[in-house]
Amino acid sequence: MIVLRTVAEVREFRLTCESVGFVPTMGALHAGHLKLMESAVEENVVGIGSIFVNPLQFGAGEDLGNYPRREAEDIALAEGVGMRAMFCPSVEEMLGRSSTRVTVSGVSDLFEGERRPGHFEGVATIVAQLFGIVRPTRAYFGLKDLQQCAVVRQMVADLCMDIDLQFIETIREESGLAMSSRNGYFSESDRAWAAHLNRICRVVAERLVEGRDDFNSVFGWGKNELSRHRFEVEYLDVVDFRTMRPVQSVDIYSRLVVAARFAGVRLIDNLAVIE
Ligand code: PAF
Repeated sequence: MIVLRTVAEVREFRLTCESVGFVPTMGALHAGHLKLMESAVEENVVGIGSIFVNPLQFGAGEDLGNYPRREAEDIALAEGVGMRAMFCPSVEEMLGRSSTRVTVSGVSDLFEGERRPGHFEGVATIVAQLFGIVRPTRAYFGLKDLQQCAVVRQMVADLCMDIDLQFIETIREESGLAMSSRNGYFSESDRAWAAHLNRICRVVAERLVEGRDDFNSVFGWGKNELSRHRFEVEYLDVVDFRTMRPVQSVDIYSRLVVAARFAGVRLIDNLAVIE
């Protein structure tokens, strides 16, 4: 495993790689990240990851200061699944000289974009920069962050970046809770309880497919059920993944999206409505 700290080091290493599968992360790696890395290693000659807690994508009052940082452990985990190099730059290396910002409108307007102003601009800016540095053949993202996938896809298409994007289905804890670096903020009992989010959403999706009630009644039922289980719901909707706009009928592109707060932690999740 090679740890790269500067753009120049990545450039030099990249010269030795035929095809590169790239997994950008903010660290605190879990089974979801490792699944992306396994795919990157399997489908490319070389797997390169990055760990960078990107200040641009955190809003005021969010958890930038508390975000879990455990670089040595992460590097060992990445090495364990066969990644060859990890790019772990400083904030100065990434942002010290940059003034360009990448805005992807449309797909970033609603849901997370509406509630976290500037978040997707921060994500798109850093992902574009990482793509420019690493020049991956393929890049791997988890569908847990559905809207992020849609934003990156739109950016890559609009800026004619020659990168094959791979979106990998969410890995879940045994309880059904989506793997997330922020799950560590929960106490053990709250973490078990948080799994009700996915359970209730699965029932909502089933009811939408059954089609016995209109969408609004089903969402009303779902929100009510979530509140009864002590979740403060921010949104519960069905979108077309390609546009991130709400839809009124379901097909293979439809994903149920949810954001809710529980025990002081903001959770997002999504699932395919038609399996
Ligand atoms: O999904 C993440 O961890 C981040 O948003 C990403 C893609 C690494 C950009 O900072």
